[in-house]
Amino acid sequence: MSEFSATAPHVRDLDAEDSDDVVIRVRGLRNAFGDSVIHDNLDLDVRRGEILGVVGGSGTGKSVLMRSIIGLQTPTEGEIEVFGQPTVGRSLEETLNIRRRWGVLFQGGALFSTLTVAENVQVPLREFYPEITGDLLDDIASYKVVMTGLPPDAGPKYPSELSGGMKKRAGLARALALDPELLFLDEPTAGLDPIGAARFDELTRSLTDTLGLTVFLITHDLDTLYAICDRVAVLADKKVIAIGTIDELLALDHEWIQEYFNGPRGRTAIAAQDKIKADAGTLAPTRADAVDTAQETVGVRDRSGGNEAAERNGIEGGGGTVRPRDEEAEGMRR
Ligand SMILES: Nc1ncnc2c1ncn2[C@@H]1O[C@H](COP(=O)(O)OP(=O)(O)OP(=O)(O)O)[C@@H](O)[C@H]1O
Ligand SMILES: [Mg+2]
Repeated sequence: MSEFSATAPHVRDLDAEDSDDVVIRVRGLRNAFGDSVIHDNLDLDVRRGEILGVVGGSGTGKSVLMRSIIGLQTPTEGEIEVFGQPTVGRSLEETLNIRRRWGVLFQGGALFSTLTVAENVQVPLREFYPEITGDLLDDIASYKVVMTGLPPDAGPKYPSELSGGMKKRAGLARALALDPELLFLDEPTAGLDPIGAARFDELTRSLTDTLGLTVFLITHDLDTLYAICDRVAVLADKKVIAIGTIDELLALDHEWIQEYFNGPRGRTAIAAQDKIKADAGTLAPTRADAVDTAQETVGVRDRSGGNEAAERNGIEGGGGTVRPRDEEAEGMRR
């Protein structure tokens, strides 16, 4: 049995973890706001070098999970390690050496509206490396701006002068300011048109491969999941209920997972990916073949097996549903 499933019986870890290769380790996480419990006994491992997609219904606590990992939300219970070092209960000073190794693109961008793009990119540089000043600071900021595909003249512009896609890139430039090893992206393609979203995905993938990043990527975007994520973690019932490749997840008999990935939008995303691969002349096995293989891998042969299949895959009950969208509560969260 893997270490993961040993500590959390609800979680189906589809591959044993090598502890040296785990960049983020979350164990027994609990987050509650008053009587409202968002996470309960949540476990998660993010492996070095992967793009981990994090999905779940709106309000299931994806952003709160990210905020817990980066220290903006103190959990009620649980342990979090980043780069092998505990972060819960430690001050900002104490975690300085960890925080300078990651970059964050918040949901909604969170650019400072009174600063130019270049000045926004300089914010983390000034905070973590105050010794960098003058031309060097300007040069680093310009380099990051161009690296994210923005035109060089975007640097002196204010966020209000940018399109949505350009704002996302500016946010990414700021997240990359410190040459991070670990990147947190919260809904990076939300609000972008499909072409802009696909370009942003390509950018994320190529930067990840070139810079050797590990990426924690929260998204609702099925195309993003299919196009660039190595594995996907599913948040539901206050936990990570499953983690694995999409094909591995598709083999699980869980209502929300099946609806999400195999519903009309999921199938459209699969078809789009298959077309891209076919156009590139690399369409190897069909998606159906891949699912068959995944079913072999995780020992599921019959999706109609209901709870039995679910139990074999470590999902309690096998039919967990995600809470409906809570618009009112959502409005309060920032
Ligand atoms: N600071 C806070 N105070 C009280 N409740 C909060 C706070 N932050 C988040 N919540 C609540 O926690 C729940 C999870 O919020 P979170 O923002 O993590 O959801 P999410 O999964 O990221 O949703 P979405 O997909 O819509 O972004 C929501 O019900 C939200 O209202
Ligand atoms: Mg969110």
